[in-house]
Amino acid sequence: MKITLQTGNTAAIETELLVAFTTDTATGKDAKPEISLLTEDEVIRKAAANVLTTGEFASGSNETILLHTPAGLKATRLLLIGLGKTAKATPHDVRKAAGTAVRFAKPRKLRELAILLPNGFDAAATARAIAEGTILADFDPDTYRSDRKDQSIDSLTVLASDQKAADAGFNEGVIIGESQNFTRSLVNEPGNRMTPTILGQRAAEMAQAVGLKCEVFGADKLHELKMGAFWSVTQGSDEPPALIVIAYEPKTAPANGPVLGLVGKGITFDTGGISIKPSDNMEKMKYDMAGGAAMIGAMRAIAQIKPAVKVIAIVCAAENMPSGKAQKPGDVQIAMSGKSIEIINTDAEGRLVLADGLAYAKQLGATHLIDAATLTGAVAVALGQVNAGVFANDEETYKIFSDAVAKSGERFWRLPLDDDYREQIRSDIADIKNSGGRYGGAITAAMFLKEFAEDTPWIHLDIASMAWQDENKPWAAKGPTGVAVRSIVEWVRSYAK
Ligand code: BES
Ligand code: MN
Ligand code: ZN
Repeated sequence: MKITLQTGNTAAIETELLVAFTTDTATGKDAKPEISLLTEDEVIRKAAANVLTTGEFASGSNETILLHTPAGLKATRLLLIGLGKTAKATPHDVRKAAGTAVRFAKPRKLRELAILLPNGFDAAATARAIAEGTILADFDPDTYRSDRKDQSIDSLTVLASDQKAADAGFNEGVIIGESQNFTRSLVNEPGNRMTPTILGQRAAEMAQAVGLKCEVFGADKLHELKMGAFWSVTQGSDEPPALIVIAYEPKTAPANGPVLGLVGKGITFDTGGISIKPSDNMEKMKYDMAGGAAMIGAMRAIAQIKPAVKVIAIVCAAENMPSGKAQKPGDVQIAMSGKSIEIINTDAEGRLVLADGLAYAKQLGATHLIDAATLTGAVAVALGQVNAGVFANDEETYKIFSDAVAKSGERFWRLPLDDDYREQIRSDIADIKNSGGRYGGAITAAMFLKEFAEDTPWIHLDIASMAWQDENKPWAAKGPTGVAVRSIVEWVRSYAK
């Protein structure tokens, strides 16, 4: 999809689909909708005037109404999309509504469209939201279908009244939207086509393309670094592991400034190992590398946005398989940090690879840590497919992250890390055990990681609830979501100010 920002006479725009946004300005719960068109453009206001008063369109969130051959316009169709109530509408609603426009166009075989930047919002934030929302909406997961119908949109024009105000936000939005889609494309691949080795290759290609340093290490390096926890997960698989290290070290970053360590879980397929998972839904476990893919996508965006801060990403990629070489419940492993771990459940493998990933990030000089992982089914039980979980061992770092989330429009809900939960992962034979049982499963998993972050300020994102959506949304296809990319990029940028 080619996407451009333009100014000019909207009436003269030749397009198959011109899109404008509306809000409902009525206040009070049961008030009849009073619809406001979010453009000053007189020709468009006139073309849309009648349909706004008939009552057939209420401007609800992502509600659409289509007008053919609108009077006075060169465009062959005019699509109006609701942003809901004026008082509540934000650029985040614009992101979804712009996505809805793209997903309206795709199945109707409309291959190009133009979207009017709505007035009443900050122009840069809205331009960014439209760029992100439309690029994200253009993604479809049916890559391997012979009859793939939903081809990409060819070209999209965003029409702004003040190009300068919209420009910076727009360009960022393109970078971030494309990076999030890059993450989604990695997550969408099945286990046989996204092994740790292939994930390493994709990361290296991306790094090369955007000018980042990237190294991909194998089993030898795991042994050299004494990554006994990471190794215990990969030892049962015939696929070699990949320890992916991507570095962004801009000259603009101050010498004694922070170094941000991004650590991602990259389990390219999670069978559960000897504690094998039931077959129902096991195919979904191809998305168990979504945290790692989020870090790779975030690095792609960071390389292009160029914040003045050092960032290192570490992705621990492995396959979790049962075999004659696989680890067994009861085994004791020694992590890179020196801590001993009793393996209670081989299906609690994410925390094992991350334990060594966090230790390695610290060894490489990280002063602040963030990890992302599809870590527990329990986080989805707690939060549903609406919020991902966030944990933090440091209030200031958490505050920076939650401000970043407010800007990204993603949804994360903080869960606790009280010392009392530590009891659940106490082992009789080792320093810690890798499963705390059913109750508070997302929390005890985070408590385990906390032991390896130690005193370094650290954020943990459990994205198992959000990395894969089971239903289509008006603005996004079902499948891989690329969750956390936007928030991580925003979080990183806050350290450059
Ligand atoms: N990858 C899974 C978590 C998961 C479940 C992600 C569903 C996405 C959807 C993780 O490795 C896992 O198996 N966790 C176990 C932990 C338990 C054995 C302590 C879980 O959540 O059941
Ligand atoms: Mn597992
Ligand atoms: Zn897993």
